Amino acid sequence: MSQSTFDMTVQIFATRDGLTQEAAKLFSKLAWQSITARGRFTVALSGGSTPQALFSLLAAPPYSTKLPWSSIHFFWGDERLVPPDDPGSNYYHATRLLLNHVPVPQTNIHRIKGELSAQDAVQDTIKQLRDFAADERTFPRFDLVLLGMGSDGHTASLFPGSPGIEETGVYVKSVTALYENRPAQRLTFTPALINDARQILFLVTGANKAEALSMVLYGPRDLEKWPAQRIQANPAAVTWFVDQQAASLLENRD
Ligand code: 6PG
Repeated sequence: MSQSTFDMTVQIFATRDGLTQEAAKLFSKLAWQSITARGRFTVALSGGSTPQALFSLLAAPPYSTKLPWSSIHFFWGDERLVPPDDPGSNYYHATRLLLNHVPVPQTNIHRIKGELSAQDAVQDTIKQLRDFAADERTFPRFDLVLLGMGSDGHTASLFPGSPGIEETGVYVKSVTALYENRPAQRLTFTPALINDARQILFLVTGANKAEALSMVLYGPRDLEKWPAQRIQANPAAVTWFVDQQAASLLENRD
């Protein structure tokens, strides 16, 4: 089932497996389109547990054998400030589940260096982004930014009440945020960078996200309280894949 809010596409899936299959198809379609148009596919991955099934699916045939991995570049929309082999690292899980299983060159993997201090990691990430974009613009325009959403309405590491994430000219920021038992020191792309993407795809599953999803999509605009509402600058490019449980409070919306 698919429905459109005034400015976004929301697709509701009966099962998580169906959602994952469709996300892999979209990833593949965008990869081929981007490579045909611009010679490379630039993607920013999300952390958390929800995209892990997608990573595993992409790591298996037909995707692992057919996708043009040497032309795909991986970044992360946010990262926790922990070493790359720490189970709290977003890079660690993407590597374990996907990058170790496909022929993507090491030079195409542009991780946020969570082992550095917050200040050094911000500087290093900005430098990597600028170097990568050298032939285009100051910062790359991502072909795909993959996002999740927390039960408090955060996305990437844009948390409720985070100060300064809208400052002009700030594209990468360090934040401290307690969420579940996850590492609190983090780095995040800001809306200025995320909203410039050609396609943004949210993956949201589970009943614990239902209230936040309903508020983010249909509640009053309150960017401090529901940071995922900040992801909307280029409406045609924002798609939400959600499962039935997360969508349980959306049912009677038009
Ligand atoms: C992170 C994220 C974060 C995540 C949400 C949802 O690094 O923690 O990128 O924004 O996507 O917290 O996490 P789950 O998928 O585990 O619910």
